[in-house]
Amino acid sequence: MTKSAVLLIHGFPFDHSMWRHQLDVLSRWECVAPNLCGAGVSDAPADPDEYSMAAYARDLTALLDEQGIESVVLCGLSMGGYITFELLRQIPARVRAAILCDTKSAADTPEAKRGRGVLAETARSLGTRAVAEELIPKVLGRETRERQPHVVREVRQMMERQPVAGIVGALRAMRERPDSTALLGRIQVPVLVIAGDDDQITPAAGMQEMAGAIPNAEFVVIPDAGHLAPLEQPRAFNTAITEFLAKVG
Ligand code: MLT
Repeated sequence: MTKSAVLLIHGFPFDHSMWRHQLDVLSRWECVAPNLCGAGVSDAPADPDEYSMAAYARDLTALLDEQGIESVVLCGLSMGGYITFELLRQIPARVRAAILCDTKSAADTPEAKRGRGVLAETARSLGTRAVAEELIPKVLGRETRERQPHVVREVRQMMERQPVAGIVGALRAMRERPDSTALLGRIQVPVLVIAGDDDQITPAAGMQEMAGAIPNAEFVVIPDAGHLAPLEQPRAFNTAITEFLAKVG
């Protein structure tokens, strides 16, 4: 196993297609952009207890092993960032660098945990359309909602096609995830932290603070982007990641 690659880890409730603009420009690098367990068309175990950050990370490591990939640059968005932290704990020697997009190191507050339960109930009783309805105004920046109807449509469709069991499982995994703040100061590899300037879920100021706690981190803000910068402002996002990858690759 000698190959190296970029592993793109999607957020919630999305699937690998959220990276389509990045896959277009990263042709110089070997890229792996899987659907997490329970997302997209992958199998969705019915039991929410089968979902955890540790289990997602183990699945991804198994995928890297299967593909003969020894060393990776991790690129995780939001929940994908929580999984990136888990991979930094599980397989630190295989991580060459990391890109943390629109994410945070803190665990859920008690209020956030209650919100996970409410959203899981919405998914179960009203389905994914209701989940999308609730999340669209939170995940997309104002500029995107007002001026990019095609992006709103794409994100809505992506959310609506996710299996309910996968949504409920991911909510359980996020609710139970460990706090990764103590890990930040121990990260040995170069890190790029990318924030949308209009991200309501993981505001840019918090991400800048997180970057400040990582020994070798750069911080970039993407203008006119909410929580889904890779889809909302792909050009600016791609410039940030390709410049970083050229340095660490
Ligand atoms: C995500 O985009 O993965 C979610 O917003 C993360 C979260 O809800 O904590």
